[in-house]
Amino acid sequence: MDRIRLVGGNELHGEIPISGAKNAALPLMIASLLTKDPLVLENVPRLADVTQLERILENHGVDVAVHGRRVQTLEGQRMTLQAAEIVDTTAPYELVSTMRASFWVIGPLLARAHEARVSLPGGCAIGTRPVDLFLYGLKELGAEIEIDEGYVVARAPKGGLRGARINFPKVTVGATHVILMAATLAKGTTVIENAAMEPEVSDLAECLVKMGAKITGIGTRTLTIEGVDELHGATHEVVADRIEAGTYAMATAMTGGNVLLKNARAIHLQAALDKLTAAGAQFTSEPNGIRIYRNGNGIQAVDVETEPFPGFATDLQAQFMGLMTMAQGVSHIRETIFENRFMHVAELARFGADIKVDGQVATVTGVSQLKGAQVMATDLRASVSLVIAGLAAKGETVVNRIYHLDRGFERLEDKLSAVGAEIERVTG
Ligand code: EPZ
Repeated sequence: MDRIRLVGGNELHGEIPISGAKNAALPLMIASLLTKDPLVLENVPRLADVTQLERILENHGVDVAVHGRRVQTLEGQRMTLQAAEIVDTTAPYELVSTMRASFWVIGPLLARAHEARVSLPGGCAIGTRPVDLFLYGLKELGAEIEIDEGYVVARAPKGGLRGARINFPKVTVGATHVILMAATLAKGTTVIENAAMEPEVSDLAECLVKMGAKITGIGTRTLTIEGVDELHGATHEVVADRIEAGTYAMATAMTGGNVLLKNARAIHLQAALDKLTAAGAQFTSEPNGIRIYRNGNGIQAVDVETEPFPGFATDLQAQFMGLMTMAQGVSHIRETIFENRFMHVAELARFGADIKVDGQVATVTGVSQLKGAQVMATDLRASVSLVIAGLAAKGETVVNRIYHLDRGFERLEDKLSAVGAEIERVTG
């Protein structure tokens, strides 16, 4: 199994190209199910989750062609997806259980094929992650839903889904994606209230508009969708990955240095940049990205609470905790989105970090020096917090089980070594 070996202590200097966002690419790929025409996606990252979703979509009849898959470059790939016909409306357990986002096919399948049988995604390392809000929204659109042997079996009413007013009691990215996609082909008008405003939701909405959907309120808490009879093909470039950008911003704050995060947009990362500034890092918005830098001064402890966008992202919480392990003072990190997203705490302790967890709050008392260690990745964002700690730790760190990292960070070791980190992948 591959591992990452790194030796801490180097500052980071140079440029890191930020890839297309995994969490935008996945729903965009799923949107291809809504039309018989080709959907061309540019800037698709080379990630294990993307490859896995290709398999799932192929099972439904999507023809996927990737240009540049084997090219050794940090440029994104171009992917053409064409669902000329939906050949299977079942998403089986074996495929769905490995990636929660694959459950989202339920929206387009129901909208276009009027039926879907999709395995429940089940538990997940970071929390229970139920699907009640997806089912609430789909029922409001007129779907009949039953749970049968671990599958959600959904049927549209005669004539297809019907527009409705949906008011989510809680902000949910996944259910917003699904209802947005389903509503594009529903009869009449759908209003989604308390919709997720994450940039990845807006990216999907903008692509759907290019495909002929009628959507207003993009980027706000209320999305209004006027259903159309059919969607057509389009070309769309995947938005830059704000979580990847935020991760490298935190790595630079941790080590010191000066790095241009190419393609990143400050507007998508404002809450995290504000916290980094409070902690003692600086940033400037440049025409082609965000520049992040820190002089020799230390990092100050800062409190953080995760929130839906535009608040501080839960997907950056572990990385911020990594940074706080060497801050001056005590910081409190409150996780409000997922109930079990502190698995990195035990691994960060191996570096000598001082962290105490009480319910949803982690209290981090900064130490003056971390020491390199053997650690284990537990989930995608948790794993990269270990890399951040390792970059500042004295001596050698080995991160095991890095298949988690490969799910969401494209060529992390290449990007970091190009800016001066001593880091390599050890295979076998
Ligand atoms: C998306 O997950 C992201 N995944 C997650 O990133 C991210 O952490 C999360 O949004 C929050 O920003 C993708 O985009 C592929 P939610 P999602 O529905 O859609 C509860 C990563 O590391 N909820 O916004 O699954 C849920 O339990 C991943 O890239 C219900 O109660 O998240 C959670 O507490 C991890 N019922 C909250 O809502 C439901 O039916 C927000 O979850 C649905 C969700």
